[in-house]
Amino acid sequence: MKLVIDSSDIQKIKELNELLTVAGVTTNPTIITKSGRPSEDVINDLIDILSPDQLIFIQVVKTDFEGIMEEAKYINSLREKNMVVKIPVTHEGLKAIKECKKLGIKTLATAIYTANQGFMAALNGADYLAPYVNRMENFGDGIGQVCDLLDMLRLNNLPTEVIAASFKNTRQVHELFKAGIQSVTVPVDVAFNLIDHPATESAVETFSKDWEKAYGRNSLA
Ligand code: E4P
Repeated sequence: MKLVIDSSDIQKIKELNELLTVAGVTTNPTIITKSGRPSEDVINDLIDILSPDQLIFIQVVKTDFEGIMEEAKYINSLREKNMVVKIPVTHEGLKAIKECKKLGIKTLATAIYTANQGFMAALNGADYLAPYVNRMENFGDGIGQVCDLLDMLRLNNLPTEVIAASFKNTRQVHELFKAGIQSVTVPVDVAFNLIDHPATESAVETFSKDWEKAYGRNSLA
């Protein structure tokens, strides 16, 4: 299972990268604009703070085939390896995913709202699929559709990896951990909610107090 961070907040990404085993960072145009910084600066910072082995996902902004291909080539040129171009599964996007496959450009098919959309993108050669779990739930079913997609890929021996996205809470992530999801990309607040619990803090406080009371020091020896 790979854990990916869905954010453009460089400080928080650094913090989580020290705390956890982070496989990479996903962004989209909205996520980058939320930083309030020039897009080039955000992308350069991501390249600087992540190791060459960590994945960086940058989404195209143009929506026509030629424009998508132009931006895909640009994104791909930003780094020697592990740069992945996110392309929405529109008609133009699906054509571009096929073309990128021919050119050896790694893609993540995004804005996926159904298992069938993801499956079609996988047949076109997408390396990764990002089903939008929370947004899918708003249409009725998120977890079930992602599980179907995992089954469909497995039954067809497709190498495409699912990076489930658009999480709003740890319950959604937990459901997919249990289902054997290959990767999740989670926003910063959800990442912290996966590891923090007030009872853990309080247990550690009690250990320290008990020790100090008995031995008059706050260390083992
Ligand atoms: C990830 O790469 C997606 O673009 C992102 O998770 C979408 O999240 P949202 O539904 O919160 O906008």
